[in-house]
Amino acid sequence: MSIEYRQYTGESDLPHIMALVQHELSEPYVIYTYRYFLHQWPHLSYLAYPEGSTEPVGVIVCKQSFHHEDRRRNRGYIAMLSVHRGWRKKGIARALVQKSIETMRKSGANEVVLETEFDNSAALSLYESLGFIREKRLFRFYLNGKDAFRLVLVVTPLPPDSMNRPPVDSDIESPLSESPPALDTKSIPLTRPMPIMSAPVQYFTVPPSSYDSDDDVSGR
Ligand SMILES: CC(C)(COP(=O)(O)OP(=O)(O)OC[C@H]1O[C@@H](n2cnc3c(N)ncnc32)[C@H](O)[C@@H]1OP(=O)(O)O)[C@@H](O)C(=O)NCCC(=O)NCCS
Repeated sequence: MSIEYRQYTGESDLPHIMALVQHELSEPYVIYTYRYFLHQWPHLSYLAYPEGSTEPVGVIVCKQSFHHEDRRRNRGYIAMLSVHRGWRKKGIARALVQKSIETMRKSGANEVVLETEFDNSAALSLYESLGFIREKRLFRFYLNGKDAFRLVLVVTPLPPDSMNRPPVDSDIESPLSESPPALDTKSIPLTRPMPIMSAPVQYFTVPPSSYDSDDDVSGR
């Protein structure tokens, strides 16, 4: 059966995402954590659907921001990844990760990071097969007391040609000086756009928001 992948579309996806993640990951997330990621970076989250089904069987949730000390580092971050048990070993997680990374690269990412439990052999094998390397071991990183590995993948940013989505307020109000060089800043409005009724809608590549510590909201 073929699998269809689509980006997060809105709150109606949230119950499905929460069900998939809560079922499989031990780290407890509150709804605000999901919304933190999904509202700011909806274009980086993907769901996997068996053909003809409205129930997703896999999900990835991500964000993108600048490194707090080195603003040349435009960093994608994979916060949550889960595939329903009945649908594993079919390449769904690999496809989800690849789609998110591709979208991050089109938004200027030059590295992608994540954390996973030190003994999660399936996740380690998946990410290492995609070229991620172990950057460091984080002692008792998770609430269950387990250590994590932080994995990192260095990537080349892609031209932002096809990365269009409507702006959100936080994008518009970000100082343009915070945008990375790879972004097409010519198409970013300098001021809040006119109301849709009186001006054509402008679409542009989404600049990553300013950095906040990955450890504030961890993924696994
Ligand atoms: C990890 C997880 C997302 C993998 O999903 P999946 O759709 O089964 O993975 P894929 O079919 O895309 O597998 C891709 C690669 O991952 C690795 N992999 C996946 N499952 C594996 C397993 N049980 N043991 C070892 N390696 C595994 C393999 O390298 C595989 O490549 P191959 O099929 O060529 O051997 C899934 O097992 C899961 O949801 N686990 C619980 C949640 C979790 O641990 N999330 C990751 C947190 S960072």
